Amino acid sequence: MKKEIDGATGTETTGHVWDGIRELNTPLPKWWLYTLYATIIWSIGFLTLYPAWPLLNSYTTGLLGYSQRATVTQQLKDAKAAQSNMWSLLEKTELEKVSANPELLRFVTASGAAIFGENCGPCHGRGAQGSKGYPNLNDDDWLWGGSIEEIQSSIQYGIRSSHEDTHESDMPKFGIDEMLDEKQISDVAEYVLSLSGKENDAAAASRGSATFKEQCVACHGEDGSGNQGLGAPNLKDAVWLYGSKKEDVVKSIHTGRGGKMPAWEGRLDPLTIKALAVYVHGLGGGQ
Ligand code: HEC
Ligand code: HEC
Repeated sequence: MKKEIDGATGTETTGHVWDGIRELNTPLPKWWLYTLYATIIWSIGFLTLYPAWPLLNSYTTGLLGYSQRATVTQQLKDAKAAQSNMWSLLEKTELEKVSANPELLRFVTASGAAIFGENCGPCHGRGAQGSKGYPNLNDDDWLWGGSIEEIQSSIQYGIRSSHEDTHESDMPKFGIDEMLDEKQISDVAEYVLSLSGKENDAAAASRGSATFKEQCVACHGEDGSGNQGLGAPNLKDAVWLYGSKKEDVVKSIHTGRGGKMPAWEGRLDPLTIKALAVYVHGLGGGQ
């Protein structure tokens, strides 16, 4: 067939004509064509080197034998090996010496945070910030002691738990067991408020101070600064486990509270408990 050239553009036509309009045979741009060739060549290379075609029960594996699954498995294995080195280092390192090894401390802190969130977060809050009845573990106010060993023993044996080595000592239920009447409780509550400089009824507080000397100093101390051996809170500071309103204090004295934490020995392995002790100690308030 004879080539027909369009007069206006000088371009060859395809010979198609619609309503007198001729279709030009404009060649594809070179860059576009070469890109197309390049992708075809690339895909042939890819198909031969990498897994590509699905077969009935398997797939073509490619000359390189690459497998994402194998890569992930290897990465997991490497990570596990690195972790198990760290865990065995933790096992060998004395509790107080863990923080002296920055790499180990970083690992234990990261692991501890995850374990804490899962096991302890429901009561203490994910960030260990605590809430009414559940102590904040970030501050330096400790019921049962803030050294790393004391923290570990709180976690391991629990508080008023069923473990034979649990921390125990209950504040008497002064109201429920009718050891003090309502007025005495109200007065001694005013005295408790005065210990931390909170607003109080001075006359009631001075009546309450006598009751405090009789009933409370054995655990909370002469000056109300508490006793960690008995888990008796410091009543002079600004930190309150059950609240600092008059009605909260009255309720604490009335019921004795008796907060409980389960023992973690038996639920978590000793190494995990050790990691948690390091983590909690490192939250900021460790002593
Ligand atoms: C079922 C709720 C609960 C869970 C879960 C729990 N705790 Fe506690 N924890 C408590 C309570 C309540 C207290 C305070 C007990 C008291 O009144 O003396 C406490 C106290 C503590 C103390 C002592 C604080 C101090 O001031 O001396 C530490 C440390 C502690 N918890 C760590 C943990 C860790 C670590 C975990 C997770 C393994 C955990 N807790 C899980 C309820 C819980
Ligand atoms: C046998 C020891 C003991 C005696 C006696 C005792 N307490 Fe307590 N008190 C405790 C313990 C332990 C706690 C913490 C309870 C808990 O953690 O659930 C506590 C908690 C409190 C709290 C709550 C503090 C807070 O941070 O919310 C107040 C208030 C309090 N006691 C006041 C008194 C007063 C007033 C008396 C005397 C009438 C008294 N206690 C006698 C052991 C004692």
